Amino acid sequence: MVTLDLSFAHLELHDDEWIQLQPYINTAHQQLHKKETPGSDFLGWLHLPSQTLDRGLDNLLEVAAEVREHADALVVVGIGGSYLGARAAFEWVQPPYYNQLSREKRGGPEIYFAGNQLSGQAMEDLLQVLEGKRVYLNVISKSGTTTEPAVAFRVLRNWLVRQSGEDAAKKQILATTDKSKGALRTLADEEGYKTFVIPDDVGGRYSVLTPVGLLPLASAGVDIRMLLQGAREAEEKYARSDLTENPAYRYAAVRNALYRKGKTAEILAYYEPSFQMFAEWWKQLYGESEGKDNKGIFPVSVGYTTDLHSLGQYIQEGVRNLFETVLTVDYNGDEIQIPSQPDSEDGLEYLADKTLSWVNNKARVATQLAHADGGVPNLLISIPDKTEKSLGHLFYFFELACAASGLLLGVNPFNQPGVEAYKVNMFALLGKPGFEEQSQAIRERLNSLR
Ligand code: PA5
Repeated sequence: MVTLDLSFAHLELHDDEWIQLQPYINTAHQQLHKKETPGSDFLGWLHLPSQTLDRGLDNLLEVAAEVREHADALVVVGIGGSYLGARAAFEWVQPPYYNQLSREKRGGPEIYFAGNQLSGQAMEDLLQVLEGKRVYLNVISKSGTTTEPAVAFRVLRNWLVRQSGEDAAKKQILATTDKSKGALRTLADEEGYKTFVIPDDVGGRYSVLTPVGLLPLASAGVDIRMLLQGAREAEEKYARSDLTENPAYRYAAVRNALYRKGKTAEILAYYEPSFQMFAEWWKQLYGESEGKDNKGIFPVSVGYTTDLHSLGQYIQEGVRNLFETVLTVDYNGDEIQIPSQPDSEDGLEYLADKTLSWVNNKARVATQLAHADGGVPNLLISIPDKTEKSLGHLFYFFELACAASGLLLGVNPFNQPGVEAYKVNMFALLGKPGFEEQSQAIRERLNSLR
């Protein structure tokens, strides 16, 4: 299903460099399956696809069907791991102009995302477009205390109560959170919202196949059974550690071998604009999992061919600490042809009757060759099509590879201690109760800088 092609990596990387990592991969594999890793309380994602399918999805699908029938718009409120997976899958599966399609074509509500930043302008813009619509909210927060979604939810909830009244609003709010802890759980229980549970043993960035992703995706018309089915296939396929058979572990080993040669930044490159949010999901997964203890490959992403006209120069000739992982789809369903027009002066007749996909593919091969020649090793990850099944497979592929890669690097791939630092400063500046001492210290520090 997923293939990893190293043909354009060979100039910088030899087979034995990554095959030599087999013993370390074996150890990582054992640690994961025997729950002996650092962060072993967060390994629930490893068998999540099969367990979720076996347990059944009836309740979640029933609620999603209600949203699809009754809502004009669904606003999904969350950030980081409680946001990126759902948005990645939504934008992958549904067309870019989904919200502009007729209700009949969509078969369900318009979909919006909020609570993933703190911009007042963005909130005003959203409220404007929601005006007069029957709106459902799905607020998603494992901790139940994250500032961005909590603030957005308060604004949206107040707006919804004003629009629909207290009782209706309660029925139109769905909360996805911890089973017993946190402010959102307390509020949801008090208000009687329908709730969905984020399992204790699945961290945010590994949670797309829990209700965090599944509820909004089912509400948006994504076939979540096929998504899980694809992930389950991956779970079965990657149950062995042999690097020659397991492309997920091979990807982990290769990126590690490259890191050891000074390739400290990885670019995820894609040629389909609908992969943009998938790349954002991938960045969080790898950035938060590996970037710690002064180690880690810095993950960035580019959308080609657009970014060849902005970042292409740097990638071709800038600092040589880069490698590139290109994500492609063998068949994307597009059959648009360039029309023949022999009398035209545009010099394009040599492309007459070629599909845009064909041209895009040639651009991809040309770029891979150029970048590899320029000292940017290129890995190619291909999937057969853009179906939910392939996407589910790919989610699992990257999660497993990420866990193994973090273990090869010698870090705990399941924690994120570094994200607290800015929060302490922000709470101090915002005057949050309990942060009085930090508030005083930070004010003095800022004054001394002026
Ligand atoms: O991966 C993570 O743990 C983070 O990105 C969290 O998902 C993010 O901070 C949101 O947290 P919460 O779901 O608690 O609101």
